[in-house]
Amino acid sequence: MADFISGFWNMYVMVLVALSILFCVFVLVANMTKREAGEVKLHGHVWDENLAEFNNPLPRWWLYLFWITIVFAVVYLAIYPGFGNLNADRGQLSQYSTEMKVADEKYGPIFAKYGEMDLMAVAADPEANAMGQRMFLTYCAQCHGSAAQGAKGFPNLTDNEWSWGGEPDTVKTTILEGRMGVMPPFGPALGGEGVKDVANYVRSLSGLAHDSLRAQRGKDMFDQNCTACHGADAKGNPMLGAVDLTNNTWLYGSSESTIIETITNGRQNQMPAFKDFLGETKVHILAGYVLSLNKDKK
Ligand code: HEC
Ligand code: HEC
Repeated sequence: MADFISGFWNMYVMVLVALSILFCVFVLVANMTKREAGEVKLHGHVWDENLAEFNNPLPRWWLYLFWITIVFAVVYLAIYPGFGNLNADRGQLSQYSTEMKVADEKYGPIFAKYGEMDLMAVAADPEANAMGQRMFLTYCAQCHGSAAQGAKGFPNLTDNEWSWGGEPDTVKTTILEGRMGVMPPFGPALGGEGVKDVANYVRSLSGLAHDSLRAQRGKDMFDQNCTACHGADAKGNPMLGAVDLTNNTWLYGSSESTIIETITNGRQNQMPAFKDFLGETKVHILAGYVLSLNKDKK
């Protein structure tokens, strides 16, 4: 019942249950009649001229069954957490919170120790990295891959190439606050041929095979439309998440058709924020783990 946002539905269900039980008791009591000695009373209805109905009490055993069900309901409510959170000692919910509490007590001090260490020191600590890896597999691997190697649209976190900057604190900020990369669509502005020209210029920046005539035409368009974000040298801008277009590292792919698709339709890409979900200390350990994957690169 903890899924309900307000306490209203908890109360509603509890009142309904209590009233139902009370109502059953009332019906039973109100209809209790004693068998009186002597003449048996009639109900008063008469059918077919002389067909009448005795007003006998319910058989005892049947009545007792009713009482038993009521007692059972009350006992059941008391033992099982029928009143939701009020009686949460035995529910799964309380089992979960107890386990979480035990885990926090056990790991809290260890987390806290690393939370106060310098990020690069965390990155160099095998025990911290083992914890960081476990968390990474739980919270990050579905997007970045179990070895943090990334996938189309999800950056590789092991190549020491960063859209948003690779400084220790910057990587931590990325995980804490999340990031939103927006590459606007240029299809309408440049037209199909124009986009193809720029795409060839982009490929030339990484030394990939390209049509040099197109690349030449594309350079002017690039200088006019793209340098504001990707930089005059096309090496990117970590403030905007505008990627380096010269390093032959690709978020979406290097083929001409993929680059054309990127430029024509634009891209929108979001890294979720983990500050509220995991808290700063766990993010600190995660950032250390991510940094450790890049330690020996370049
Ligand atoms: C829902 C998918 C998703 C999850 C889960 C996710 N990420 Fe990301 N992450 C992304 C995307 C998409 C980007 C690229 C954002 C962009 O291009 O602007 C990104 C970017 C990043 C970057 C910046 C890389 C760079 O080049 O600057 C880091 C660091 C990062 N993620 C770490 C993590 C960590 C650590 C976790 C787990 C706590 C995590 N991510 C969980 C989708 C995800
Ligand atoms: C408003 C800023 C902005 C402008 C202007 C802009 N870009 Fe981008 N571009 C970005 C961002 C941000 C990304 C990363 C998107 C993401 O995180 O998914 C990106 C990504 C790309 C990519 C994908 C690279 C890869 O690794 O797959 C290509 C190619 C690209 N831009 C080319 C261009 C070209 C060509 C132009 C000019 C016609 C241009 N961009 C103009 C912001 C911009």
